[in-house]
Amino acid sequence: MKAIEVGLLGIGTVGGGTFRVLQRNEEEIRRRAGRAIRISMVADLDTARAEQVVGGAAKVVGDARAVIANPDIDVVVELIGGTGLAKALVLEAIAAGKHVVTANKALLAIHGTEIFAAARAKGVVVAFEAAVAGGIPIIKALREGLSANRLEWVAGIVNGTTNYILSEMRSKGVDFAAALKDAQALGYAEADPTFDVEGVDAAHKATLVGAIAFGIPVQFASAYVEGIGALQAADIAYAEQLGYRLKLLAITKRRDDLQQQGGATGIELRVHPTLVPAKRLIANVEGAMNAVLVHGDAVGTTMYYGKGAGAEPTASAVIADLVDIARLITADPDHHVPHLAFQPAEMHDTPVLPI
Ligand code: HSE
Repeated sequence: MKAIEVGLLGIGTVGGGTFRVLQRNEEEIRRRAGRAIRISMVADLDTARAEQVVGGAAKVVGDARAVIANPDIDVVVELIGGTGLAKALVLEAIAAGKHVVTANKALLAIHGTEIFAAARAKGVVVAFEAAVAGGIPIIKALREGLSANRLEWVAGIVNGTTNYILSEMRSKGVDFAAALKDAQALGYAEADPTFDVEGVDAAHKATLVGAIAFGIPVQFASAYVEGIGALQAADIAYAEQLGYRLKLLAITKRRDDLQQQGGATGIELRVHPTLVPAKRLIANVEGAMNAVLVHGDAVGTTMYYGKGAGAEPTASAVIADLVDIARLITADPDHHVPHLAFQPAEMHDTPVLPI
């Protein structure tokens, strides 16, 4: 069967990891996908770096639009980041009938409504497992594994950089600036680390999780966002003395209980430092690791733990999306694949409540 041809836009840390893992695990991936998945074209401004990574195994171009214009490309993987050029390219790829895989949480949290609507209209998939919690398959868990449940809340540590900073400050007494520098050197931080420190990255992820869990539109602008920038070593030490750990939690929660008290119904969407009893599993998630708790009415509380950032953990999620798309294309060559596209809003009028 014909290979799925993939065009990669951006071959930095995650792009390089994706290329490497696809090559290393080629046989397993081919068996699971039912056909080969091949990165046949790569666009990057730094063509010399791209050539070095692909070593002649894919065509390298400097212009992303050449990938989108190539009729042989089935799936475009967007790893450029940001909300400017990346948005234009994703919309152009959709308009050209390509499926899209992206790790870009900012793009989807801010422009998701427009992007998912365009994908639905065109009958293509926009898959984004890598956008939330890196290698943890949390989107799949919410959409597939827990699909029998009425989900009540999701809460988690979804930013590795801030969890690393808080862990280093608590356990080693490292100061904030030095811990942030380490997180940057380890490749966890965003290009603009204020997105990590101020909770914006976690809120982008929580916005996507809320939309999937509750079927609401993406509403990043309504999220309550408070980062760890104002925390001091003394706050962490006092929390410890009282038997708590400070964690930056991203929380999204159904609040239809408020209606019974005469209040508004809606969804909470918030990111803020939280005191968590030190005995809890999630309080012991250290370093750059991520963990997400999900509560559903049938299953109770489930927990997902793993690497939320880094080249190969994120590549693992990107490739899982490619495998899903390969299976769908095989099952339905006409590409009528709404079940992987973002679901039409189940609670389309539901607001995010002010905190
Ligand atoms: N800057 C992000 C983090 C990268 O630290 O978790 C993964 O989204």
